[in-house]
Formats: sequence, structure tokens, C-alpha cells
Amino acid sequence: MSALERLILQTLDKDGEIGDSKDFASTSGYDHKEVVGSIKSLQSYEMIISKAREIPHSRNVLTEEAQGYRDHGSPEAKLFAALPPEGILMKDLTANFGDKAFAPARKYGWVGMQKVEDGQQVVVRETEAIEDTTQNLLKQISEGQAVNRKDLEALGKRKLVKAETWKTYALKKGVKFALEKKKPATELTHEMLQKGSWKDADFKPYNFNALGQPTNGGHLHPLLKVRTQIRKAFTSMGFEEMPTNNYVESSFWNFDALFQPQQHPARDAHDTFFLTNPAATPLSKQPQDYVQRVRETHENGGFGSIGYGSHWKESEAEKNLLRTHTTAVSSRMLYKLAQEGFKPAKYFSIDRVFRNEAIDRTHLAEFHQIEGVVCDKGLTLGDLIGTLHLFFSRLGLPKLRFKPAFNPYTEPSMEIFSYSEQLGKWVEVGNSGMFRPEMLRPMGLPEDVNVIAWGLGLERPTMILYGIDNIRDLFGHKVSLSVVKKNPICRLNL
Ligand code: PHE
Repeated sequence: MSALERLILQTLDKDGEIGDSKDFASTSGYDHKEVVGSIKSLQSYEMIISKAREIPHSRNVLTEEAQGYRDHGSPEAKLFAALPPEGILMKDLTANFGDKAFAPARKYGWVGMQKVEDGQQVVVRETEAIEDTTQNLLKQISEGQAVNRKDLEALGKRKLVKAETWKTYALKKGVKFALEKKKPATELTHEMLQKGSWKDADFKPYNFNALGQPTNGGHLHPLLKVRTQIRKAFTSMGFEEMPTNNYVESSFWNFDALFQPQQHPARDAHDTFFLTNPAATPLSKQPQDYVQRVRETHENGGFGSIGYGSHWKESEAEKNLLRTHTTAVSSRMLYKLAQEGFKPAKYFSIDRVFRNEAIDRTHLAEFHQIEGVVCDKGLTLGDLIGTLHLFFSRLGLPKLRFKPAFNPYTEPSMEIFSYSEQLGKWVEVGNSGMFRPEMLRPMGLPEDVNVIAWGLGLERPTMILYGIDNIRDLFGHKVSLSVVKKNPICRLNL
């Protein structure tokens, strides 16, 4: 608490009131502005000082122009003094005396106008001597003397005098007056309750007019933004989104339906998260005739294939897992399409998959896959290459190369590489292929129907687009909240 605040409180305590803050300021030797500052501060503590009553004041002050007239004479007086006996041509008056001299000089009857022979107007003196009324009035006003209202109004019209207003305050003790400032409590604490000190505490009143804190929610994660853009790329190419709302999948759809052998290393607990509860989906829940065809194809082949030549274990196909790829969803969709009676279809999905992987700056145990599937009669590898060119150029990756690869469910299979201008080299951007007949024919799709498909991760393009180099900053429990809150919109030139 400042010395001034203390003095205000003490004066109030002693005298019961302060009649006018202006008088208080002059007797205590403080500047009135400082006193007002302290009053406001004490007022904000409500309980200490009653609301100050305002006393309005006003005073007439000279404008800058008028201060010059007060010191050196008014323009009309200067005109009168300088006017030669024969007068001056009206048209030369402004150039010599400005435009503020003539009207008042004429009003006072100091000067008049005469016509000369050639019809021009001449301004001449009308009286012998004058007194500079304006200057006198201005002097009186600046000395604080009263002048009559008419004169004041006339000076106001000439913009020589203006009213200045200010306020002083009358102060009284408040109901909760004290000599010391007590900070009001803003919270009811556990300690106050325990000690009972809440009974004597002054609580700060609620301010129902205060604006709320800006909410911190509603941020879209960069992965969602890129997903939205890629979803647009697909839908603008006529693709339909597949339902991916099942993270838990049965091995049957994730692997067996895709003709992935039961001995395949991916079906190991080192690579796949298997569920312990519920650990299995009984094969009796799957379409029976289809299960039989899948078993037959795995064990003995068909459709030009010799199969894997080993016993197909139901227990292996029944194991529940966290889906390792969204191709599990594609296999369900293609089976469904075959049951409904084949018609050409274009499907896509963008959703989460899970792999039991060692986590490092470029790998996570869960990530997002983008998958495209086209199902039609007579599709060729050329259709796959053309579709990939179309799709990737929409993502801003027009330069592509393909490398033969292997997937258990596609033949031929191709890894997709794109030339990165940023890195100056070819980088792998996805995997693709034509689904094998061993997968499609047991589903019931006609012989002449082919399916081309491709898959890629969502994280890598997102990291490139947002300049993030550690995947753990983007996703997972170590995610950088500032990345989530401050990321800009994503716009691909689709
Ligand atoms: N499922 C494959 C993967 O997880 C990607 C892929 C999809 C490959 C479709 C070919 C066809 O990598």
C-alpha cells in the first residue's frame, strides 16, 4: 500500500469523509491525478472505501490561437492600427491582414466600406481610437476572471475559448472500511474450511461479466487434415469409402481370406498383436461354404494354383488380432460384393492398423494405412499403373517408378517409388498388386474379374507435408501438443 493510499485512509478515519479530492490534493501536496489513481485503486477493493461521488468541474481555457491574441493583440486591432488614412482595397485586405480581422472590426464599428469611383470597395477607419476588447477579454479569462455569457459565446464561435471539464471526488468510508488493504479471497480453500477462517474471509464477488477463457479444444490433428485431403482425392476419382470401424479382426479375414499361408512369419506374435480376450472368433461365425473354399484353396490349390499343400488349421484362422492392414477390410468388402452379385467397384479406406514393431523415430506400433481397390472385368497391370499415376499425381507425386515385389495375396506385385524433389532421390511410397485368383475365386467373383489394389502409409506423407522428422512428435503418447494445436491447414492441389 502506498503512502498516499494510507494517507487517504487515515484522513477518512479521522475526518469521516473527504469533501473534495482536489482540496485533499492541495493540502497534502499531492498531484490531483495521483490522488485519483489511488482512489480508483482503493475503490477496486470495494470493501475499503465507499464508491467515490464525482464532482464535475469546468473552466474556460484559451485555444492556442487565442493565446497569441492575448499576448500580441487581436487581428481586428492589428487591422485598425495598420489601416492607412485613405483605406485599403477590399480585394487586398485578406492578403495583408488575413481573413479573421475584418468581420470583428466591422462589428465593433471600427471600420467601414466605401465605394470609390471605379466601383471598387475600400475599407476605411470609422473611428479615431479603439480599445482591443478581444485581447482584454482573453486576458480576463486566462486569469480566471468571470466574463459575461454573450462575450464568452462570441469567443467560443471564433474558436478562441473552449470549456475544459474535469472531475474531483467526494469520499466516504465504506461499510467494510479498514486501515489496511486486505486482498479479498478468490477461492474457498481446504485450509479455510479446516481452520474455520472462511468465516472472517472477505470473498471477491463473482464477475459475471468477465469473458471466459478461450477454449483450448477443437484442434484437428495433422493426420486428420491429410486424411481429409486424400479422401477428397479418392472421392473425386469416384471411389467409395469402406467401413473400417473394426480394429479387432479375425485371422480368417486378415490373413486366410487373403491366401496368406498359415506358416507365414507375419502370423507370428512377434509381428502381430493377438488378442487374449476374446482370443478367437469361431469359424462357425463365418460363412461356411466360403470357409470350405478357403480351406480347399490353401490345402490343395485350384484356379491354376497348387496351394500350400499342408493342413489348414481352423484354430489358426480363428485367432483374433488387431488388424495388421486395412486389406482385411478389402477382403470383407470383396466377399460381400461377390455375394451381392458382381458389379464394378472402386473402394478406398484410410484408417488405423497395428503391428508389433520395435518403435523408433520412423516406426510406431500403430499407424494409418491408405488403401485403394478397383474391381472390374479384364483389368490389367496397365490399369494398375495408370490408376497409380492418377492417384499419386493428385497427392503431388507425379514421378513414379515400380519395382517387382512379393505379397502373398497379389501377383504381380509392385513396390511404388516416387522421385522426391526435396530429397533428390527415389523414395518408396507404397505397395501394390493384382489380387490373386486364389483369393478372389473362393469369394465367388467371376473368373474374368480382376482386382487391382495398392496401399501406403498416411504418416510419411503427413510428416513430409508438415516438416516433422520424428514420428513420435506426430502420434502416440509423446505427441507434441503444439504440433496438434498450431498446425496449418493442409491443401493438396487435387
Ligand atoms: N496390405 C499391404 C501392406 O500392408 C499393402 C497392399 C495393399 C499391397 C493392396 C497390395 C495391395 O503393405
